[in-house]
Amino acid sequence: MRKIAVAKGDGIGPEIMDAVLKIFYDAKVPLEYVTVEMGKWVFDKGFNNGMTPEAKQTIEDLGILFKGPMETPKGKGVKSINVTARKTWNTYANIRTFQTLHGVDTVFSKAGIPIDVTVVRENIEDTYGGVEHMLTHDVALSRRFITRPGSLQVIKYAFEMAKKKNAKRITCGHKANIMKITDGLFLEVFYEVAKDYPELRSDDVIVDDLCMKLVTRPDAFDVVVLTNLQGDIVSDLCAGLVGGLGFAPSANIGDHICIFEAVHGTAPDIAGKNIANPTALLLSGIGMLRHLGFMESAVSIENSLLYTLEQGIHTGDFGDKSKPAVNTTDFAKAIINNFGKQPEQGAKTLLNDAPVTETHFRLEKNSMMESKESESEKIIGVDFFIESNEQPITIATKCLRHAGVKFKLINISNRGTQVWPTGSVYTNLVNQYNVRFESIDDTPLKQQDVLGLYVSLSGDFKICSSELLLLLGDKRAYSLAQGQ
Ligand code: NAI
Repeated sequence: MRKIAVAKGDGIGPEIMDAVLKIFYDAKVPLEYVTVEMGKWVFDKGFNNGMTPEAKQTIEDLGILFKGPMETPKGKGVKSINVTARKTWNTYANIRTFQTLHGVDTVFSKAGIPIDVTVVRENIEDTYGGVEHMLTHDVALSRRFITRPGSLQVIKYAFEMAKKKNAKRITCGHKANIMKITDGLFLEVFYEVAKDYPELRSDDVIVDDLCMKLVTRPDAFDVVVLTNLQGDIVSDLCAGLVGGLGFAPSANIGDHICIFEAVHGTAPDIAGKNIANPTALLLSGIGMLRHLGFMESAVSIENSLLYTLEQGIHTGDFGDKSKPAVNTTDFAKAIINNFGKQPEQGAKTLLNDAPVTETHFRLEKNSMMESKESESEKIIGVDFFIESNEQPITIATKCLRHAGVKFKLINISNRGTQVWPTGSVYTNLVNQYNVRFESIDDTPLKQQDVLGLYVSLSGDFKICSSELLLLLGDKRAYSLAQGQ
C-alpha cells in the first residue's frame, strides 16, 4: 500500500473529498490515506501558514498531498495557504488538463469541436512572489521574478509531458513584445529546450492573441506553457471552454513533493449542502493515480466517470436541466455502480495511457539553482526611483549637479515614459520618477561609485528604490523607457 497525505480542506472540501475517497475505496485503489491538519481552521488555531508542523512533516515524508480547496482568512495579512504550499515545496509546474466530456454540454461539444488542451503554468515565480512595496503614498510597485533555471524546470517538464502524451504541438504563451526582458527570457528558454524535441511542433503566440484563438479554435491547441499569472488566467479561460470549474483538475508537480487538487475554491455559497460537483477533484485524483503508476485503477475509474456523465447523471451545476440533479453522495454512488462500464466515446485504455514513474527522495540540503555564468558582467549605470512633485526640468537640474565626474544623466521617466530630455506636457505625471545615470565613457563602475551618487542625491530627494544597470556580455540587461 502506498501512503499519501490527505487534507480535506474547507467549505465543500470535506464533502467532495469524502465522495472521491469512497470511489477510490470501492475501486480497491492500493492507497493508504494519512489525514493532515491544513486549512482555515488551522489558521484559526494560530498556525500562521495554515498547517501544523506535524502536517508539514507528514507531507514531506510521503511526497504526495491530495487536497481539497482551502480558504485564506481575509484581512489578517496571511498569505494564501495554497500558494504557500506550492512555493514551499517548489511544485514548479501546474498542470491543468481540459477535455471535452460527453454529457457536459458546451458550445464546442454542440458544434462537434473536440477539446483536449493541457495548460502548463509556471507555479512559483512571476508576481506570485508577492514582493510589493508602496514607493510613495500614490505609487505601488510589484516585482516580477522570471529566472532562467525556474523557467527551464517548468518548460522541460512541459516538453517531456507533451512527448509522453503524444502531443503534436507545444505552444509558449507570452507577452515578450512588451516585457522584453522577463517574458523574453522565458521565451528564449522555451526555444532552447525545443531544440531537444524536434519531433514536436514548437511555436509561440502572444497571450492576448492566444486567448482569442483559444475561444475560436480550441482544437488547434495541444500543450500550452506560460508564466504564472498569464497561465492562471488562460487556464480559467480553458476551464470555461469545457464546462466550467467543476471539470478542471490540477496537479502541482515538483521534483520531491506533488500536490493534486481541483482548480476551484471552497464554494462557500453551496458548502454543507451536499450538492457540490466532485468531478474536478476526482479527475485530479485520477491524475494522481497515473502519477503514482496505478494505471489500471486510473483507467477503470475514469471510464466509469465518463460513462456516468454520458448517462446524463449530473449535479446541479451542469447537465440537462430537464433531468433532476443528484447530490454529491449519489453522484459518487452512480460512478461506483458503473464500475466496469465503458463509455461510448473517449474510453481510456491502458495502451493510450502514458505511464509515469514517481520518484520521491528526501533532501539533506537544497542545492542552488544556477545557470553557468557564460558572459562577463559590468555595472554601467544606475536607476534611482525618487519621490518628487516637481516638474522634470527642475529634477533634471538638481540631478545634473550630483552627476560628478563619473556619471551622466541619461533620462528621466515617469511610469516608464520618458519625460526628460524630451517628453510631452500631455504625459500625466505621478510623484515618482526614475532617474537614470550611466557611466561617463562606458567605463565599468563599482558599487562604491553608485553608493557615492546615492548619498549625494539623497540630499535632494527621497530615494524609494534603486537598480543597477548591467551589461551582460555585450547585451544591455535593462529596459529602455518609452520614447528613450
Ligand atoms: P470558488 O471556485 O470557490 O467558487 C466560484 C463559483 O463556482 C461559486 O459559485 C461556486 O459555488 C461554484 N463552484 C466551485 N466549485 C464547485 C463545485 N465543485 N461544484 C459546484 N459548484 C462549484 O471561487 P471563490 O468563490 O472565488 O473562492 C472561494 C474561496 O476558495 C476563497 O476563500 C478562495 O481563496 C478559495 N480558493 C481556494 C483554492 C484552492 O484551494 N486551490 C482555489 C481558488 C479559491
